[in-house]
Amino acid sequence: MTTPRGTAVVTGASSGIGAATARALAADGWEVVVGARRLDRLEALAAEIGARAHPLDVTDAASVDAFVAQVPACRLLVNNAGGALGLAPVAEADVDDWRAMYEANVLGVARVTRALLPAIEASGDGHVVTIGSIAAHESYPGGAGYNAAKFAVRAVVSVLRQELLGRPVRVSEIDPGMVETEFSLVRFGGDAERAAAVYAGVTPLTAEDVAECVRWVASRPSHVNVDQMIVLARDQAGARQVHRHPT
Ligand SMILES: NC(=O)c1ccc[n+]([C@@H]2O[C@H](COP(=O)([O-])OP(=O)(O)OC[C@H]3O[C@@H](n4cnc5c(N)ncnc54)[C@H](OP(=O)(O)O)[C@@H]3O)[C@@H](O)[C@H]2O)c1
Repeated sequence: MTTPRGTAVVTGASSGIGAATARALAADGWEVVVGARRLDRLEALAAEIGARAHPLDVTDAASVDAFVAQVPACRLLVNNAGGALGLAPVAEADVDDWRAMYEANVLGVARVTRALLPAIEASGDGHVVTIGSIAAHESYPGGAGYNAAKFAVRAVVSVLRQELLGRPVRVSEIDPGMVETEFSLVRFGGDAERAAAVYAGVTPLTAEDVAECVRWVASRPSHVNVDQMIVLARDQAGARQVHRHPT
């Protein structure tokens, strides 16, 4: 038996960590509202867990406004939408990819957080949880565009926590290492073989592992703010150190 916790918004819930987080929060008694661009997947998830689904493109201000208009009350926001594009060295940087990563990962967080913050604060006990990355702490060759975006997200989260000091809103960041989702498929433009190679010989985190971190952080007592949580697979010791078992 769960107790009602209020409304939780999860961005980027059409796959991976976002979908798993929506499932975990719904099971923990939250009224869940999910957003992403692929509405068919979102609606299937919403039907499965009893959530509400609305289209959301975090890179588009009008889409964020339309989404937020459907969410009059919100106590928990999970900023999860985002991802990486490409693995090109700086010498061959695709500036369009960099711009797209900044738009989704950084400005997306800014747009959605700014729009929902009044409702989150009005709940009297709000919480903003943002999915960063180990790539926000450690750079790696080929990662510059994504590193820059996730380092920036970390800065935004840190500033937000300071600005909200004294107000009833917690601000947390969860920074996973390698998680097997559609992340690498998206990063490599749909190249399934290249995406699978990322996880070869490794037991990576699952989306559910990260979702459980979000659920746990959000269910601590109101006076407890988990500022930051770095969570890696046992087979990973940093952004550049991965142990691969013989296959
Ligand atoms: N997988 C990893 O190894 C890993 C590690 C550390 C951090 N992360 C971070 O975890 C988060 C979730 O990634 P994931 O691993 O679950 O990858 P994923 O399976 O590719 O999921 C990404 C989600 O973000 C949504 N999204 C992307 N751009 C969006 C936009 N413009 N507007 C709204 N939604 C958008 C996608 O939905 P639509 O395409 O339907 O819009 C999808 O639901 C990302 O922020 C990622 O950077 C992932």
